Amino acid sequence: MYTPNAGELALITGAGTGIGRAIAIRFSELGASVIVTDLNLESARETVSLLANPTGNQTHEAIALDVTKKAEVHKVMSYVGETYGSLNILMNNAGVSTMQKLENLTEEEWDFNFNVNMKGMFLVTQAAIPLMKKKGGRIVNTASMAAVKAAPLLVHYSASKFAVVGFTKAAAIELAPYQITVNCVCPGFVKTSMQDREVVWEAELRNMTPQEVSQGYIDLTPLGRLCYPEDVADVVGYLISPQAKFVTGEAMNIAGGANIV
Ligand SMILES: NC(=O)c1ccc[n+]([C@@H]2O[C@H](COP(=O)([O-])OP(=O)(O)OC[C@H]3O[C@@H](n4cnc5c(N)ncnc54)[C@H](O)[C@@H]3O)[C@@H](O)[C@H]2O)c1
Repeated sequence: MYTPNAGELALITGAGTGIGRAIAIRFSELGASVIVTDLNLESARETVSLLANPTGNQTHEAIALDVTKKAEVHKVMSYVGETYGSLNILMNNAGVSTMQKLENLTEEEWDFNFNVNMKGMFLVTQAAIPLMKKKGGRIVNTASMAAVKAAPLLVHYSASKFAVVGFTKAAAIELAPYQITVNCVCPGFVKTSMQDREVVWEAELRNMTPQEVSQGYIDLTPLGRLCYPEDVADVVGYLISPQAKFVTGEAMNIAGGANIV
């Protein structure tokens, strides 16, 4: 089996389900040991139970982590430092969404989206730098199609994900001297629990049925189907591979053409 990341340690946020879970599985298949973190410890444990160990030497573990809580973030990074010494791969994946017309959007919704999607990414990345500077490494951030193409009813989410792209590019320049690459992925309409919630909200806001909304996503996608978490894991697997060692500051679309502008 091809295990280019054998001997490496990866930490991933929001990996109890959906895209994060698929990426954690892919990291393990590529030979890395994976620290699976999520707000929900039970779901993180479930993800760990699905991880592979093709090298026979991988150790995976689940840790509860709310990326918006600075003290928790630092506690987890201290533990990683004490236990493993360094970190090779950081996947900032935790994210939330809500859907609302701009004129009805509340300050709470704004703060909720920005706190998880952007501030959490800042807190986790900053705390990981000392562990990654030692040997160099890869940081991959989950942005969104809404970070590339304007997304109505998602003004706040879209703004937070545009911020992820800006953060990724600036961090890529700052961390390049340490041979740490920083890239982000921009998935399209991905079939996860987040999408299941959004379809219902959008149906209500647009006076449609959830089935019509879902079909609309497919109609907006030139390659003619929804995106799956594994489609995203394929690209993230490339970004942590030896072949991507000279790629940094990129925002890679994984949307079947839905975000061609
Ligand atoms: N589903 C899509 O269509 C889509 C498209 C583009 C981008 N994304 C992005 O992909 C990422 C994953 O989304 P998904 O579709 O798998 O969603 P999901 O809701 O299925 O999974 C998100 C995970 O993040 C965790 N989480 C939420 N808040 C957290 C916090 N404060 N700290 C730590 N973990 C937290 C949740 O417990 C959950 O396990 C998000 O950043 C999302 O914005 C999703």
